[in-house]
Amino acid sequence: MQELIRSQVKPEIQVFANAEALTQAAAAEFVQQAHQAIQARGRFTIALSGGSTPKSLYALLATQPWRNQIPWNQIHFFWGDERHVPPSDPSSNFRMTQQQLLFQVPIPQENVYRIKAENPDAKAAAGEYEQDLRQFFQLQEHQFPRFDLVLLGMGANGHTASLFPGTDAVHEQTRLVVAPWVEELNSYRITLTPPVINNAVEILFFVTGAEKATTLKAVLEGGYQPDRLPAQIIRPTQGRVMWMIDQAAAHLLET
Ligand code: 6PG
Repeated sequence: MQELIRSQVKPEIQVFANAEALTQAAAAEFVQQAHQAIQARGRFTIALSGGSTPKSLYALLATQPWRNQIPWNQIHFFWGDERHVPPSDPSSNFRMTQQQLLFQVPIPQENVYRIKAENPDAKAAAGEYEQDLRQFFQLQEHQFPRFDLVLLGMGANGHTASLFPGTDAVHEQTRLVVAPWVEELNSYRITLTPPVINNAVEILFFVTGAEKATTLKAVLEGGYQPDRLPAQIIRPTQGRVMWMIDQAAAHLLET
């Protein structure tokens, strides 16, 4: 029998008429994954994303009928990436989630694990979050956490989480969290690394808008060049990856 060298899960693609339909389907997926994880493991661990679609999703989850279907106290909230700003900053992903969701529903404060991005040393903040993950998931050295769900967006430049084109973060293999300097933003970002994201049970990408159509086609149907298109580095080996896309972003795809 041949030894398995590398396995890769084929991405699933779902195309929706518009962002609203996508967000409704994302809420249903969130609820289903939460129930499955809680039934199997007694808790649901999720790494949240910033961005526009997640923002609408968080707001939707806080409303009925979704709100009552979610066992909030069995969910543990983490972040996939963060801007190098304090939690009160309008650009903070944590702040956005707090306003849309965490303040609106009964989530125990101890189930919320934010990135302490107010630390003036971004690399120290990344190190601290790595320790938080190691502790929560009770990891041995060389082990990676296995999130039940990781939410991701994709920028028109092909970045995902805060894995930006041309940064070393795209090829990080050992760290759980890094703080790349992103030249085009003139700032640090703090982000989970590819081996952490790729170890998830499920990864959900949200992509909307015609301005992302060309990049999306290159990511899903073009050659493999993750330095230019970091979203391509997301290839789970023992999980499921689903791309939820609106028609505007999907219109160039062959499939
Ligand atoms: C962030 C994200 C980032 C985002 C993409 C897409 O903090 O901004 O985590 O990776 O998902 O930039 O964002 P939009 O969906 O808003 O275009």
